[in-house]
Amino acid sequence: MPATVDYALLNRQLEALLDTRDWLTNSAQTCAFIQHALDELNWVGFYLQRQPNILSLGPFQGKPACHPIPFSKGICGAAARQQATQRIDDVHAVADHIACDAHSRSELVVPIVVDSYLWGVLDLDSPAHTRFSQEDQAGIETLVATFIRQTDLLLF
Ligand code: SME
Repeated sequence: MPATVDYALLNRQLEALLDTRDWLTNSAQTCAFIQHALDELNWVGFYLQRQPNILSLGPFQGKPACHPIPFSKGICGAAARQQATQRIDDVHAVADHIACDAHSRSELVVPIVVDSYLWGVLDLDSPAHTRFSQEDQAGIETLVATFIRQTDLLLF
């Protein structure tokens, strides 16, 4: 079992860490912060919509990853298409899951939406089955809200 995480504390720390409004700096800081704050993760990173309906790989922590990902494919594509968080206990049970790192077993993908426009997604992967609880989902969604609030998100 992963250690219990104090997301309210993490949120205050992230608010202090993001002291620019630059999307590149803040996205790099945010994924590095999450990677070090949570255990049992093998990949944390951003995909950005820089062309219509395509996710381009952005700042991340972990192994080199898949790029590009169309909105029509994978768990990230589903989060982008539906503008809804995807919390997947077992990625092997998802037919069109895109396996970037063979060690990934569960996944949490949170959409980043500005004025109904899908700017990108934040993707967390874990080698553990059922790594992400509802509390993790709510906590990571809070961190993403802080990232959105404290960043000037250019629309590409
Ligand atoms: N597994 C994702 C692809 C991105 S990687 O996990 C970094 C998916 O199915 O969309």
